Amino acid sequence: MDKRDFFDLWAPIYDALLPSVFYQAVHIRLLEFVTLPLHAHVLDIGCGTGKLLNRVVQHWPMVTGTGLDFSPAMVTQARQRTPYADRLQFVEGNVTDAQFAFQTFDAVFCCISFLHYPEPLAALQAIAPVLKPSGHFYLVDFTPPPWSGQDIAHRGISPAGVTFYSAAARTTLGAQAGLRCDRHAYLLGPVMMTQFSPQLL
Ligand SMILES: C[S@@+](CC[C@H](N)C(=O)[O-])C[C@H]1O[C@@H](n2cnc3c(N)ncnc32)[C@H](O)[C@@H]1O
Repeated sequence: MDKRDFFDLWAPIYDALLPSVFYQAVHIRLLEFVTLPLHAHVLDIGCGTGKLLNRVVQHWPMVTGTGLDFSPAMVTQARQRTPYADRLQFVEGNVTDAQFAFQTFDAVFCCISFLHYPEPLAALQAIAPVLKPSGHFYLVDFTPPPWSGQDIAHRGISPAGVTFYSAAARTTLGAQAGLRCDRHAYLLGPVMMTQFSPQLL
């Protein structure tokens, strides 16, 4: 089974399972760090069932958003479950193939999805150009345990495994993709938010 099949299977019951309940608590913490212009347009990469975007547009009533996910079943769930279909759209696609217009988004989120990407630098290189010059990219994911001394840690969880990145590894990867690291903050347990801005030339 590959990763996409794995998430397709998970999608119909995803919101009822413990990891999703934990991730929703992470979303609440994340939004404490987010500022948006009144009419912002935002992107959520690896949006799953759309819970984070629903919370964003509930919080900011003029904001519109796009969710991208490579699992067709996750996208179906997101479309069916959102109470904000007039302000949110959900599209199917791999982060590295994303074809959004240059400098479209005021904010890009990626919450507990980056750990699954086999080409992390290519993912960041796809994200950087779609951010407006004043925009921010919020990378939210697990970090390696501090006592491990590892900047990058691979785990055999889920098909093809997952990879955790330390604050230092995120800063380095971001810089390679033209993203300047603004700050890191632990949100819940080992889940860290890293905020990036486009590196202005
Ligand atoms: C653990 S879920 C997290 C979902 C959501 N962001 C949340 O906070 O609940 C990871 C999501 O990333 C998606 N995903 C994994 N790899 C992806 C890729 N290469 N491109 C787009 N989406 C991907 C999966 O389909 C899944 O919906």
